[in-house]
Amino acid sequence: MSERAPRPELCDGHRGDSLSGDGLPGDHVVGIFGRPYVDLEPYLDLSALAEVHDEICLGLTRVALDYTGGSHRTLGIVPASQRDMAYADYGEVLRAMSPAELAQFTALGERLGEGRAPEGDPGLTYGEEREVPLSRRQMLWLEFRYGVYFPWKVYFELIPNRYWSDKSRSEGKDFTRVARSVFPKTIAFVKQLPFSAIGRCNLMGLAANDHGTVHRDGAREQTQPDHFITVCPAGNKTLFLWDEVARVKHPVGARAYWFNDNDYHGVEAAPFFRYSLRVDGQFTPEFLDRLERDHSA
Ligand SMILES: [Fe+2]
Repeated sequence: MSERAPRPELCDGHRGDSLSGDGLPGDHVVGIFGRPYVDLEPYLDLSALAEVHDEICLGLTRVALDYTGGSHRTLGIVPASQRDMAYADYGEVLRAMSPAELAQFTALGERLGEGRAPEGDPGLTYGEEREVPLSRRQMLWLEFRYGVYFPWKVYFELIPNRYWSDKSRSEGKDFTRVARSVFPKTIAFVKQLPFSAIGRCNLMGLAANDHGTVHRDGAREQTQPDHFITVCPAGNKTLFLWDEVARVKHPVGARAYWFNDNDYHGVEAAPFFRYSLRVDGQFTPEFLDRLERDHSA
């Protein structure tokens, strides 16, 4: 994500070499080029990061922000050892609501604002990758009334993308008008990254003391890992890959990196706000060739 909008895929998990030996299919860290992640700092021009960081921190005060995460258990993308049952999941909360509570919930929505209860399973109707996105008021009510834990309390889409399966495709997408107005240096930075197509671009931040719940973004059969770059301009967000078999974390120690988002991953808690910029798309063939040449030996 999630970080944002993971669509659980129905299959028996990962294929390919494991970094961690034998275990259940899909629980290994598959990684990229046989390693948990690829440090992209040597390959990218990060000279603008200081001014990009300044722009983002100020810009986030000027735009409407969303939450994301909050339903990873319902989405079925959490490993057995990391289900964090102390943290309320909104899919589970919605399923437990009375008709009156559901009517209140729907009244807070943007599309179904008439207080009508949804037809079918409410846990499969609302939120990420579902038919009806949560409104800001619904997110806040789920948090305030039911204690739902949204790990990413700062979420802003520079290039909106509705469904996870479309994140690598650029057709019909562009930076929003608001993004162009508020984040021009960030957009210039993104445009010089080695992509031939960009299908998704967003900012994801965690409040002080929050952690990113361990999950994976998909579990489908893959011919190669999806192409994306995560950049943490401040270098203070510790993402880790989680090996469910070995019960081991592989922390990421780079300001710019690529990992296999079919692998379980999470973010360590820290006593301060942290954010990253994620860009999804298709790498240029030259960039991919260079990475393969340097890492496949
Ligand atoms: Fe994720």
